[in-house]
Amino acid sequence: MKAYELETFGIENLQVVESAMPEPGGDEVLVQMCAASLNYRDLMVVRGEYNPRMRLPAVPLSDGAGEIVAVGDNVTSWKVGDRVMPSVAQKWLDGKPDSSAARSTLGGDARSNGVLREFAAFDACSVVAIPEYLSFAEAATLPCAGLTAWNALVESGNLRAGETVLILGTGGVSIFAVQIAKHFGARVIATSSSDAKIEKLKALGADETINYRSTPDWEQAVLDLTDGVGVDHVIEVGGAGTIEKSLASVRVGGTVSMIGALSGGATVNTVPIFMRAIRLQGIFIGSKAMFERMLQEFDRARIQPAIDRIFSFDEAPNALRYMETGEHFGKIVLEF
Ligand SMILES: NC(=O)c1ccc[n+]([C@@H]2O[C@H](COP(=O)([O-])OP(=O)(O)OC[C@H]3O[C@@H](n4cnc5c(N)ncnc54)[C@H](OP(=O)(O)O)[C@@H]3O)[C@@H](O)[C@H]2O)c1
Repeated sequence: MKAYELETFGIENLQVVESAMPEPGGDEVLVQMCAASLNYRDLMVVRGEYNPRMRLPAVPLSDGAGEIVAVGDNVTSWKVGDRVMPSVAQKWLDGKPDSSAARSTLGGDARSNGVLREFAAFDACSVVAIPEYLSFAEAATLPCAGLTAWNALVESGNLRAGETVLILGTGGVSIFAVQIAKHFGARVIATSSSDAKIEKLKALGADETINYRSTPDWEQAVLDLTDGVGVDHVIEVGGAGTIEKSLASVRVGGTVSMIGALSGGATVNTVPIFMRAIRLQGIFIGSKAMFERMLQEFDRARIQPAIDRIFSFDEAPNALRYMETGEHFGKIVLEF
């Protein structure tokens, strides 16, 4: 079978290799991967920025969808032909995360090779069923970006109808956050660096939009839009470069979900955090149980992932280069 392997860091070093067909162990299922999607983390992994000491060679990518082609002797929960997605944090099944859950993510360490390969064996209890209404390409967008947005807003955020959510940028996590927030009846204020993407945000249901490039004091714009009160939730994907403005945008007693680090630099004034009783909630993807609850709701509401562009398996390096440009809106997918 074919797999992409990284022997040394760099997109240019991502090579297709012939590797042995995996044999499912007694408790495993063998999945023929049909699609995968890119997350910003994959770009960091491939460039060597995620963990410069990561053991190589490694197969990258955490998010995929496929069909079961064989099951181990002890597996009763799945059969050949079932359509599944592996959970990203393979060992986080339910409850709170622990260090073993945090170390079990696909595509981030050689111990758990990623999904950029034609076949992969997974523990039967770490895969979830794909709802019928979703294609493999659509399903492949959900395990990391969809679940992270769901965890931030619904599981950890306890979002209620009528609350206001501030969402930064138009990447994979942020666009799912727009869709989930709208689905639960929240008011969405969304930002982007691009006026063309702002039109797409409006089409997706964002109530108010701000171009954070032409309005560098965007936190003031958020306060103006909320009568000086601030928003209930912030989906914080920017990190050091945006956190101070996010803290200034949230209401007293509101929540900032700390998800990403797309922007660099800056020291942070921590005083507003306690003076305004802000809840800073670190979000680490989500558990399998959260993923199943999310899929139930997506299935019920037929929430359609926003796919920007689909590349073929052979074009994986080009797909990563496209992600580097930041031109995408929502998800970039690979079809095998
Ligand atoms: N904690 C977790 O479990 C978890 C899970 C998934 C992702 N993440 C992290 O979350 C972040 C987003 O991941 P992703 O896969 O959704 O990324 P992505 O799809 O690559 O998102 C890129 C988009 O983010 C926006 N952006 C970049 N810099 C920004 C800034 N300074 N302010 C506001 N928006 C900015 C841009 O949108 P515009 O072009 O519209 O400006 C850009 O197109 C990454 O840091 C990733 O590592 C964390």
